[in-house]
Amino acid sequence: MTTQPLILITGGAGFIGSHVAVELLSVGYNVLIYDNFENAASDVPDRITKITGAQATVVRGDVRDRPLISETLARYKPDLVMHFAGKKAVGESVAKPLFYYEANIGGGICLLTAMSENNIGKVVFSSSATVYKFVDGKRLTENAPTCPTNPYGRTKLMLEDIVSDAVTAGALQGAISLRYFNPVGAHSSGLIGEEPRNKPNNLFPFIAQTAAGLQETVPVFGNNYKTPDGTGVRDYIHVVDLARGHLAAANYLLDCKDTGEHQRINLGTGFGYSVMQALSAFSSACGFEIPHKILPRRLGDVATCIADPELANRLLSWRAEISLDRMCVDHWRFQKNDSR
Ligand code: WQD
Repeated sequence: MTTQPLILITGGAGFIGSHVAVELLSVGYNVLIYDNFENAASDVPDRITKITGAQATVVRGDVRDRPLISETLARYKPDLVMHFAGKKAVGESVAKPLFYYEANIGGGICLLTAMSENNIGKVVFSSSATVYKFVDGKRLTENAPTCPTNPYGRTKLMLEDIVSDAVTAGALQGAISLRYFNPVGAHSSGLIGEEPRNKPNNLFPFIAQTAAGLQETVPVFGNNYKTPDGTGVRDYIHVVDLARGHLAAANYLLDCKDTGEHQRINLGTGFGYSVMQALSAFSSACGFEIPHKILPRRLGDVATCIADPELANRLLSWRAEISLDRMCVDHWRFQKNDSR
């Protein structure tokens, strides 16, 4: 009997990583979660097992721990690595740029070097739509101009280019960088989801915490944008759809014959919803109005940011399927469980 591929997930206990682990285990892949648990509860692997009935191998470690990541790769010889571990708060990256470059670029180079030295040749990299130069009103394709406006977004684009150079030089066999738009929601079990350690920066966690009584009111940053209701429009994508996009990327890389390529691919729905539409959908999910107040625009925000997901649809045979209402219902279920 052939053994199923093993996929090592750095940051595999985190919000996106844990949902990807569930999808991979659910279709029979073997999974190794490599995580320092700085931004993840220690029982997340157990919750993943509760959902899937399958057990991931767990190594507690930091990608910047060169001996440990190299020893882990040498010992387990994964068929593919998915790299999520890193820092992801835009505001924090502006305040602490050197910390972000050390964590995200330093960590990424440490991982990729260890992979190359151990002949682990395939990687799926967690990138972001923040790499783009935002042009209001246009769906963003992968060849749209890039111009990140903060250190977090710059680390994502730099790492994409580092991966490209490594593939070109033959240090890696093949790679896919997935550019996320706005991941929200949670697994329908209510067992895993986003657990911000501090006051949330992003809209959905803020709405969910306000609904749970953990925040007083939702600040709506600006209602005078050139959008249907004046509030910001974003391409919200259910985290399970996002996870399935990673499964599709892994299948593509593991199956693809002509390695030696690095594809940069959007993961979004291709549809946008405004802040007020998100608030309304979340109110329907929780059954009561959610307090909010209109404030001035947030520095750096654009009116509209929506993906063109055609390349993912075509190359990966993947398409987002879960509705905004389901995103809210699933996010609210997890928030209620998490607030206990
Ligand atoms: C969405 C909309 C805000 C909070 C971020 C980062 C990055 C990326 C995706 C990983 C905007 C409005 C928000 C609030 C509000 N993730 N808003 N009140 O800024 O589109 O992108 O997430 O790469 O983290 O780029 O997401 O959720 O912060 O904002 O009115 O309290 O909600 O103005 O229109 P954003 P967001």
